[in-house]
Amino acid sequence: MEGAGGRPRVVLGVSGGIAAYKALEVLRRLTESGHDVRVVPTPAALRFVGEVTWAALSGSPVHTDVWADPDEVAHVRIGREADLVLVVPATADLMSRAVAGRADDLLTATLLTARCPVLYAPAMHTEMWEHPATRANVAVLRERGAIVVDPAVGRLTGPDSGAGRLPEPAEIAALARAVLALGPAAGRPDLAGRRVVVSAGGTREHLDPVRFLGNSSSGRQGYALARAALARGARVTVVAANVALPDPAGATVVRVTSALDLRDAVHAAAGSADVVVMAAAVADFRPAKPQDYKIKKEGGVPAPVELEPNPDVLAELVSTREARRPGQLLVGFAAETGGPDGSVLDLGRAKLARKRADLLVVNEVGAGLGFEVDHNKAVVLGLDGSATTIEHTTKDLLAHRVLDLVVGRLA
Ligand code: CTP
Repeated sequence: MEGAGGRPRVVLGVSGGIAAYKALEVLRRLTESGHDVRVVPTPAALRFVGEVTWAALSGSPVHTDVWADPDEVAHVRIGREADLVLVVPATADLMSRAVAGRADDLLTATLLTARCPVLYAPAMHTEMWEHPATRANVAVLRERGAIVVDPAVGRLTGPDSGAGRLPEPAEIAALARAVLALGPAAGRPDLAGRRVVVSAGGTREHLDPVRFLGNSSSGRQGYALARAALARGARVTVVAANVALPDPAGATVVRVTSALDLRDAVHAAAGSADVVVMAAAVADFRPAKPQDYKIKKEGGVPAPVELEPNPDVLAELVSTREARRPGQLLVGFAAETGGPDGSVLDLGRAKLARKRADLLVVNEVGAGLGFEVDHNKAVVLGLDGSATTIEHTTKDLLAHRVLDLVVGRLA
């Protein structure tokens, strides 16, 4: 179903927490990206941000109860017509009422009539988030097919900090778009209950405290994969090597610098994972003798840097899989330019034969392709001999197409 002018319809439910003001930014981002957003605040939400603000920013009338326009049966219509219901912030009280199936305001009534994906972004004090009642409610909502993102850890209202902070509004909007990108296929999230680890970015191998050997991987494709997995209901850990992007909403992000740090973090997270995607550009070599102090030019031209090999993390994951978690799906990336040794695809096939991952996403890099851009194209090679071409598209859509192949193999 689509709104005016074919725009996807989003219901933005807002419940009564201080983070309601951040939902304004989510609303602005979604309307700017062409979505038709209908805001449904709870009465308590209006104590934080008034009706006029929601109506002005969304360009639609705003109601909180089922008694406005009774002839229209608003809760049925709004729920039925939505492509996505997004609740920002979701308070402990709102989730508890949703679990109980109550319909005491327009938002909970809408949640009962909606048959589209539902995404909750909780925000509350750490004690409330960790309370067994809230944990149980979140588990029930997830079991029923809703996506409930884990709140971020950080500064809360007042001087305290901990788990319970609303993820960045821009990232919530991006996650909402990743759910909508699934299109009509977005029924029950097909990675619900699965754990996915994604490595992203590029490692840095330090020569001295300020200089390093690095690469130009931005982390965008890895972050798009994390977001796509979250949009399909997975719990996601991102091992981020020097990534300067905001954390994907709902992901646990572990920051690393070097290939050795990345290896430790990936192995630690992989123990409980159903899928590991190695999207990071990992340095193959590191300086054998990194200096403790900044190298000075007075010493003259330094001797050539002596390098030693780094472990191949993906190959290690493949060789230790049976002992760690049989059936775990391992996905590698190969950024290739092609060259005298063969075409991009030849090199990809040879790499898959060497690394023996289940899937290898081969993409051509260099000259405006791959790094630092939002578009990408690829061929996904399977160890089973399959080859799937993904035409030039956004990194977000490419991520979904890669996950389509992952989901098919997990089943
Ligand atoms: N990879 C890894 N550990 C390394 C190097 C690479 O886990 N030390 C992973 C990457 O994350 C990626 C895949 O292996 O998923 C392929 O990386 P790539 O750099 O293309 O492969 P290399 O084996 O390093 O081959 P080359 O650099 O010679 O092309």
